[in-house]
Amino acid sequence: MKKILILNGPNLNLLGVREKSIYGDQSFEQYFEDLKARYAIVELYYFQSNSEGAIIDKLHEVGFDYDGIVLNAGAYTHTSIAIADAIAAIKTPVVEVHISNVHQRENFRHHSYLSKNCKGVILGFGLDGYRLGIEGLLA
Ligand code: DQA
Repeated sequence: MKKILILNGPNLNLLGVREKSIYGDQSFEQYFEDLKARYAIVELYYFQSNSEGAIIDKLHEVGFDYDGIVLNAGAYTHTSIAIADAIAAIKTPVVEVHISNVHQRENFRHHSYLSKNCKGVILGFGLDGYRLGIEGLLA
């Protein structure tokens, strides 16, 4: 079975609570249960951290073994050269996902340090973006 990790960065533990008009009212844990039921043919894993170093450690840990990573690095997307370097360093393909369409938002959200090192980028489709990321990795 293929192994795919969904990796969420800072503040994404508050999905369903945080800025609902932008990020919706479903918690990631609820959504993840639906995803696991839908993708019974995939070994799906989930990890969330608010710390840049923990995200990098996780990329190193799974990045030579898993078949894909769906990464929403939250605000680190726009700041973290270290996460960009970690994505470049590993073998596992990474799909960058954003729940919101960051290009409709503040200018500082328009640039991603990560996109260049990712297989693809999905944004603006709400939580469904994680499913689309899995589809992209399985295709
Ligand atoms: C986000 C967009 C980022 O700009 C923001 O900092 C987030 C969430 C998204 O999923 O839309 O935390 O990555």
